[in-house]
Amino acid sequence: MIEKFSVHNRESLENRDAIFREMRESCPMARSSAHGGFYAVSRYKDVYAAAHKQDVFSSFPVTIPPFGNPTPMIPIEMDPPVHRKYRTLVGTQFSPNTIEANEPQLRAIVNTLIENLQGRPQADLAEEVAIALPLRAILEVYLGVPEKDWAMLKREFLYMLEPDPEKSDEENNERAMQAGLNCSMYFAELLEERRTNGFGDDLISHLAQVEIDGQRLTDDEIFGFCLVLVPAGFDTTASLLSRLLLMFTERPEVREQLTAIVDDPDKLDLAVEELVRYIPPQPGVARNVTTPMTFADTELAVGDRLLLLWPSANRDPEEFPNPDELILDRQPNRHLGFGSGIHRCLGSHLARLEIKILLQEFLHRVPTYAVAPDAKPLWHTGNTWGVTELPVVFEDWDTVGASAGQGE
Ligand code: HEM
Repeated sequence: MIEKFSVHNRESLENRDAIFREMRESCPMARSSAHGGFYAVSRYKDVYAAAHKQDVFSSFPVTIPPFGNPTPMIPIEMDPPVHRKYRTLVGTQFSPNTIEANEPQLRAIVNTLIENLQGRPQADLAEEVAIALPLRAILEVYLGVPEKDWAMLKREFLYMLEPDPEKSDEENNERAMQAGLNCSMYFAELLEERRTNGFGDDLISHLAQVEIDGQRLTDDEIFGFCLVLVPAGFDTTASLLSRLLLMFTERPEVREQLTAIVDDPDKLDLAVEELVRYIPPQPGVARNVTTPMTFADTELAVGDRLLLLWPSANRDPEEFPNPDELILDRQPNRHLGFGSGIHRCLGSHLARLEIKILLQEFLHRVPTYAVAPDAKPLWHTGNTWGVTELPVVFEDWDTVGASAGQGE
């Protein structure tokens, strides 16, 4: 399985813990023959080191296989020195202060999602909660995209992020390129509409007005930014949340432990970090060797590709005592779920807040539930690993109604 490892391969997803353990113990720079071949970097210290070697490991392309875009995606595939210029442009938009200011709007979205569930016997918690929250956060709160277009954009972005494992790389790339084009055309219309009707405080209006070295961004650069921010903003968080909501059915004690600490902000902060360590939704990103060198006892040539396996690094016993245990008050917790180095997740504060708000509202107001007897959760592979369908049946809504009332 190690020789065929790929983030797009269902066997790799299903056997991830065993594969990562074997890699860390026996072949920390494992060679996979998938998608033309690459090295899978699995130990914490090597993943961390590689993420900080931007002088010799380029981020373009950042996926294996590559999307095939001729120029780097902004900012995730950019290398120094240009990377910093572009990333800085949106730093304020994703800073802790700005994110805090968006808290009421995010909480209102969570409340609407929960109200939609209330009293119902069944729901799909992946579609209706885990995906809906981060999708609305980025499209509605950040970009001001009208509701009628959310489903279409989600569908198109998923063609890029979650290629069909049954199809060839070529077929998937063709569909992903078409989806990228469709989304760019959509953002072109949105930009035109803002230019005509006046800029607001949304992200696309901001991008249309910022400058690098005295120059406005080109329209292609603005679309390029959106093509990264939207999927990075929803698919990662959605995958984490869907896996967490599934975990509540498999390990009810996790829900109980979280419920016990959810009203204590300090404990909740620690718990959220541990959740990102334990179920990091992004299985790996690529780095491309630009200088011949020895890395982790392996001779690398120009053009060799590495896949940095964040989930494996996060379970490395060299860094984390009892790595396979979910320890909600784990300290220290230098996990790599949000990456590390210059490309460290831009949206980490937003993701953390979404997870926190969801837990605060959901745990008190949604009763326990089980996977629907006639259904099963549907996982997806791809550039994130998560659950696309989570059909559940709820237990008694009356019990939570009473306890929520007491808590207020
Ligand atoms: C639980 C949720 C999330 C996880 C686990 C996550 C994980 C990551 C990781 C591992 C990276 C590093 C990629 C690399 O080194 O090449 C990254 C980068 C990035 N993330 Fe996130 N992410 C999450 C949520 C978000 C959100 C909500 C946004 C909002 C827009 C976002 C935007 C980005 C961007 C733009 C980058 C590229 C930064 C750069 O290249 O400088 N992410 N993320």
